[in-house]
Amino acid sequence: MSYLTVTNATKVFGGTVVALADASISVEPSEFFTLLGPSGCGKTTLLRSIAGFHDLTSGEISINGKDLRKVPPHKRDIGMVFQDYAVFPHLNVFDNVAFGLKPRKVPAAEVKKRVPEALEAVRLEALAERLPSAMSGGQQQRIGLARAMVINPQLLLMDEPLSNLDAKLRVELREEIREIQKKVGIATIYVTHDQEEALAISDRICVMSDGHVEQIGTPEQIYGDPQTRFVANFVGTINTMQPGAALDGLLGQLGLGDLAAANADASWSVRPESLQIIQGNPGADAKAAAGTNAELNGAVSKYTYIGRESHLQLSTDVGEIVVHIANPGPSSKYTPGAPITVNIERQSVFGFAATGDRINTGPAK
Ligand SMILES: Nc1ncnc2c1ncn2[C@@H]1O[C@H](COP(=O)(O)OP(=O)(O)OP(=O)(O)O)[C@@H](O)[C@H]1O
Ligand SMILES: [Mg+2]
Repeated sequence: MSYLTVTNATKVFGGTVVALADASISVEPSEFFTLLGPSGCGKTTLLRSIAGFHDLTSGEISINGKDLRKVPPHKRDIGMVFQDYAVFPHLNVFDNVAFGLKPRKVPAAEVKKRVPEALEAVRLEALAERLPSAMSGGQQQRIGLARAMVINPQLLLMDEPLSNLDAKLRVELREEIREIQKKVGIATIYVTHDQEEALAISDRICVMSDGHVEQIGTPEQIYGDPQTRFVANFVGTINTMQPGAALDGLLGQLGLGDLAAANADASWSVRPESLQIIQGNPGADAKAAAGTNAELNGAVSKYTYIGRESHLQLSTDVGEIVVHIANPGPSSKYTPGAPITVNIERQSVFGFAATGDRINTGPAK
């Protein structure tokens, strides 16, 4: 049985704004579960409903089979970390963390034991006497994390805790948050609109749009086997190929002709990094795996070097196609107009019906 379950959650603000529409999730014990989606899709509303700051219009929330909606927010035993650090500037680090224990009437001796433990977990034990104003953003957010954990919550909720930090620190702290969470083993729901962060940190990801759940899965499933066009577009990028005889021919070579014929209104996409440039001898690779590979000829229309990789845009019979090249080598061979052949594998081609739902099964399991 899952640890936390949210079933058919709907939240309507002011009678008209539908922030959540029939959203259901379940979180396993010790799981790091991430809500990912664009601004306004309902991530914070779902989190605040679980914390008890919002009452659902309809739906159920339970932890360990116990109906959470009957429990007032302060009795829910849920730790929260917010985007703004929400630290008290006049209290030192120790007192900031101890603050959460006050309303719980924890004995002083226990406070003296638990606060240092929480500070050690976030590696702030040496700074216990420091005032937050003399600390970096990353350190202040660690105070927030320690304060959420010190109450020994049954669930940890984090709403974009890293979005006020610079890019480098964000990457460092997300690794730390992941490590700390695995060590303490508290089931965690983490909110972000940063897809890379979600992929890096999560056991499972729930992709949301417009208040509903698009797909729930491991990072590999979400990225490698997106079930809707929205997920494929939001997590990573895709090239959508132009319909016509050239696309029909390509899909036929890939063994997708029957599926394409049965779904005339479908659109077909391929990820930029799953296209391989064929060097030297076009034709050799495709023949080796006939029926699952196809070659696509194009001419360079744009070449962008961005350090660790390059983005090559090609004009082809199925439209403008972007190819990501991991080890680009000298740029001289990618001058505008130069002919390039790329290899497409069937497993990296995604077909979506007009509804947005995926019609072919994907590679990742
Ligand atoms: N208290 C409120 N009253 C009215 N509408 C609200 C309220 N809170 C949220 N909304 C609306 O509900 C929708 C979902 O908002 P929510 O804050 O949950 O989105 P979000 O996914 O967290 O977005 P962001 O990434 O920008 O934080 C939005 O359209 C928002 O304007
Ligand atoms: Mg939000």
